[in-house]
Amino acid sequence: MAVLDNLIAGAWRPSLTGQTYVKRPPSAPDRVLAEVPAAGHEDVAAAVEAAVEAFPAWRRTPAAKRGEALAATAELVRSRAEEIARTVSLETGKPLTESRGELVRGASILRFYAGEGRRATGERFEQGSGGAVYTQRRPLGAVALITPWNFPVAIPLWKLAPALAYGNTAVLKLASDAPLTGLALARCFADAGLPDGVLNVITGSGSVCGSALVESEGIAALSFTGSVEVGRELRVLTAERGVHAQLELGGHSPLIVTADADLEAAVEGAFRGAYASQGQKCTATRRMYVDDSVYVTFRDRLLARIESAKLGDPLQPGTEIGPLVNESQLRTVLAAIERSRREGGRLLAGGVHRPEHGHLVEPALFEGLGDEAFVSREEVFGPVAALYRFADLDEAIRRANATRFGLSAAIYTRDLSSARRFAAELDAGVLHVNSPTAGADPHVPFGGLKGSGWGPHEQGRAALEFFTDSVTVYEDA
Ligand code: UN1
Repeated sequence: MAVLDNLIAGAWRPSLTGQTYVKRPPSAPDRVLAEVPAAGHEDVAAAVEAAVEAFPAWRRTPAAKRGEALAATAELVRSRAEEIARTVSLETGKPLTESRGELVRGASILRFYAGEGRRATGERFEQGSGGAVYTQRRPLGAVALITPWNFPVAIPLWKLAPALAYGNTAVLKLASDAPLTGLALARCFADAGLPDGVLNVITGSGSVCGSALVESEGIAALSFTGSVEVGRELRVLTAERGVHAQLELGGHSPLIVTADADLEAAVEGAFRGAYASQGQKCTATRRMYVDDSVYVTFRDRLLARIESAKLGDPLQPGTEIGPLVNESQLRTVLAAIERSRREGGRLLAGGVHRPEHGHLVEPALFEGLGDEAFVSREEVFGPVAALYRFADLDEAIRRANATRFGLSAAIYTRDLSSARRFAAELDAGVLHVNSPTAGADPHVPFGGLKGSGWGPHEQGRAALEFFTDSVTVYEDA
């Protein structure tokens, strides 16, 4: 069993409270993977102080040099990718193939933001009266980053890389279910020579150290990915305190399959969208609207795909479905399946707990659920999806939009006008034509509309907007 330390002001250390908690592997929950610091107020205060102290020197460091620190970190992430991917699978249950993919993605996020060090961040104009006027972007200060366990590499990196590239310092609070991965990434930054205090990483519960971090005086901005409920509280709290907030919250992503779609691609996209990472992503496909005329064919092919899925140990390279992350997720998912049955849903496949694989639940597919049923409306963070029939595209778009969420959506179609209508009318921040609802490139914005997000989106140029202030300079000679 590993005993983990937090990173504060360049030093690896246990919690000042002396408290720890135990992290268990989801595929063998009787075992203990690590003893993890349960950071308290004192640790948060020390981490924030370190970030505040490191800020003046870091913001004065030339942007290209800051970029070089990220490039060096990317190299270490790449060279340690296999080891970190195994850690991801072990501590979260994510299948190894997906974990490996996430490491590739993590390194490319770092490389993209390393390049930001040499790209323009401001614009130059001419004043109305003729002289020069230009905009410059300034870092905000010490920023708080709070990340979830479901993408323990990509999400911490897509917050950290732009935060640091643009000259901020950071306190990163890791999800209590993914401390090993986050600390392994922190080790890459430290080994790449990032100056002490620029990045501080703490582990512990959201209710104790997450709250302490958000309430801390030294914090200039908060970027949070997590639940809608916590997001709502944070929106109020940060507004009251005048702290910039970027909140990435839940989703309930629809997928539309038209009559002329390439059904093979649609079935694979639906399967991956709904069940990759065991459906534990806010971009996961929850609702599948299928044209009446191809409904039965699509359903039967999707069922065959589900039957063929390889379930089991996330560390086995061929595994497609691993265990859910923890026992409370397991209980929530099983309760939602039970509730859907009571609401008249027909369970066509899966939905069974397989304790020989820890918290694994077979991918569940429902049909016959009403639009008001629990699973049709609420985000069940697991391998649960439902099929619905539609008569025409108007109906499909209207029902796809009938949700308080708006993160991502997909359509499978060969018809250009259907694709265009979907792109114009679907209310979600990330739209996919002929690809699954999940996924996010580092160089373009990612984020939700409606209840799915608040504040500027993440990644791409949207990250510059969030992690910097804009200053306009009138310059006369
Ligand atoms: C993806 O779909 O690859 O927590 C990223 C989540 C999202 C990120 C999804 N914030 O699921």
